[in-house]
Amino acid sequence: MKIEAKIRKFKAEDINKILEIEKQAFPKTVFSKVTFLNYADNFPDTFIVVESNKNIVGYIIFDLTGHIHSTAVKQSYRRKGFGKMLFMHALRCAKKGLWLEVRSRNRGAIEFYKRLGMKIVGKIPKYYRDDDALIMRLGNSIPPRAGKTNNF
Ligand SMILES: CC(C)(COP(=O)(O)OP(=O)(O)OC[C@H]1O[C@@H](n2cnc3c(N)ncnc32)[C@H](O)[C@@H]1OP(=O)(O)O)[C@@H](O)C(=O)NCCC(=O)NCCS
Repeated sequence: MKIEAKIRKFKAEDINKILEIEKQAFPKTVFSKVTFLNYADNFPDTFIVVESNKNIVGYIIFDLTGHIHSTAVKQSYRRKGFGKMLFMHALRCAKKGLWLEVRSRNRGAIEFYKRLGMKIVGKIPKYYRDDDALIMRLGNSIPPRAGKTNNF
């Protein structure tokens, strides 16, 4: 069966659906409603959601320097290509490539990003209270902290 998918910009009325996805994806470090609404103000063109049959099933927030601030897909819709669709949209918009921080213990996300061609280019010890961050990059985007990280 073909899965319907549509990518569009975030609208304020999406907020509760985004918060549900967020709580599932990041139970210990949930972004608040205010944080998401600030992102919507600051990045109106690059806070993107993906809908399937009119349900919001995932989102990505990035900026035009190529920094992915956050991305998540609703649990029951994972491994169906929605995460990749959001990522590829960001890659088309951020012309120099993409970079991000990811928890070193988030094996699933690290495998996902590697599959999409990203490479681990650095590490920030204790970036999160209980974990290190790995810096991953694709293309020529330049993470501002690159000089301060321990490059592999
Ligand atoms: C990471 C995340 C966004 C991926 O979304 P998704 O829609 O499931 O990803 P896709 O279906 O597009 O996956 C594309 C490919 O990436 C790889 N991949 C995705 N998730 C993976 C996992 N958990 N383990 C290993 N490989 C994975 C697979 O190769 C997959 O292709 P396949 O299903 O044909 O094998 C999703 O797992 C998620 O929301 N995780 C929780 C939030 C999170 O960790 N966000 C990233 C923080 S930096």
